[in-house]
Amino acid sequence: MTFDKIYQYNFPTTIRFGAGSSQELPDYLLKINLLKPLIVTDATVAGLAFFKQLIDSLKKKGISAEVFHDIHKNPVKSDVYNGTDRYDAAHRDCIVGIGGGAALDVARAILLRINHREDFFKYDDLIGGDVYVTHEVPHFVTIPTTAGTGSEVGRSAIIADDETHQKKILFSPKLLAKIVFADPLLTMELPPPITAATGMDALTHNMEAYIAKMPHPICEGIALEGMALIGQSLEKAVTKPDLESRSKMLMASMMGAIAFQKGLGVVHSLAHPLSSLLDTHHGLANAVNIPYGMRFNISGFEAKFKRMARALDLKEETGEGVVKFLFDLNAKVGIPHTLSKIGVKQEHVETLADLAVADFAHPNNPKPVSREDFKKLYQEAL
Ligand SMILES: NC(=O)c1ccc[n+]([C@@H]2O[C@H](COP(=O)([O-])OP(=O)(O)OC[C@H]3O[C@@H](n4cnc5c(N)ncnc54)[C@H](O)[C@@H]3O)[C@@H](O)[C@H]2O)c1
Ligand SMILES: [Fe+2]
Repeated sequence: MTFDKIYQYNFPTTIRFGAGSSQELPDYLLKINLLKPLIVTDATVAGLAFFKQLIDSLKKKGISAEVFHDIHKNPVKSDVYNGTDRYDAAHRDCIVGIGGGAALDVARAILLRINHREDFFKYDDLIGGDVYVTHEVPHFVTIPTTAGTGSEVGRSAIIADDETHQKKILFSPKLLAKIVFADPLLTMELPPPITAATGMDALTHNMEAYIAKMPHPICEGIALEGMALIGQSLEKAVTKPDLESRSKMLMASMMGAIAFQKGLGVVHSLAHPLSSLLDTHHGLANAVNIPYGMRFNISGFEAKFKRMARALDLKEETGEGVVKFLFDLNAKVGIPHTLSKIGVKQEHVETLADLAVADFAHPNNPKPVSREDFKKLYQEAL
């Protein structure tokens, strides 16, 4: 690791972590006198018992909760515009995001749009749009209900274009939540396939962040511990969930997101086009691709793979050992080994490779990835 220039390291917001912490929301809002939250979630979460209880508990304390849940599985710009209209029409004074990564990303994107009303993709971070994020944003609270993206501790929202489905990143340090209520009880009823896919997303964050290019020992330490927690708990959380396995997964998913400010890599670039082209769930797309993407990264980075193998408590402390662990873990949690099992066809490969090489994640991969490499990786995984 060489520190060849000045790097900036940022660390996140206040986190209230533990069973029951989400019940602190009403008193928290009362204390800061914000009594008109826009609650952003998705339609499924809006129907769950814990969500209804939380809304009731807000109402009991005299807090008016306006719920916005009309969002796409892979959120698009019009979701953000509609949510902003709701915020305006209902005269809201803050935003509370409750849900998985999709809902939290829409919540964060609405947060940005409230005081930044030019075309939303003008703020696209990849074209330097973060410089236009100059105004203040409303108070923002996040409550995760999946253990995957870690979006609750993030500063970015991933929103796709309605027509092209291309994903854009909106980023600003202003978009960090002021407080996160991370309550593992909310994840207890997550169905096994969602637990598996979101958990593999969290593992991908920790692994890709650990080996990403930027020198960042703080994040590397977090990422190693994050992957250790997932190694200990993902299978249990999927097959026989208890509070301990759910707590470890929720913690590890936040650690992954904290760690990936260091960068992501080839696996996320393989995964993003699957969501754009085929609407594949983000975590599932990462899960199927991670063994192949990690295998691609081994040569030249053997020492880092050895440390990952140790964190995961593997017998075989090598890159191949890590890849075998990933295939085995996928099998144990019900994730297929091949892309053809999740709807990818030979005819998709060229387009997927075009989209992958244009993706924002792989420039931080420890080694360069060409279009030819992407094509080969898709072909291998097919
Ligand atoms: N901002 C970031 O840093 C970041 C990072 C990675 C991914 N993402 C984005 O996050 C999104 C994926 O997020 P995700 O993996 O959490 O999936 P998700 O938000 O799509 O949720 C998956 C499914 O689980 C359901 N669900 C959520 N909580 C539940 C609960 N407690 N019980 C039962 N069902 C529940 C949802 O309704 C949904 O159907 C993608 O849009 C991706 O682009 C964002
Ligand atoms: Fe991810």
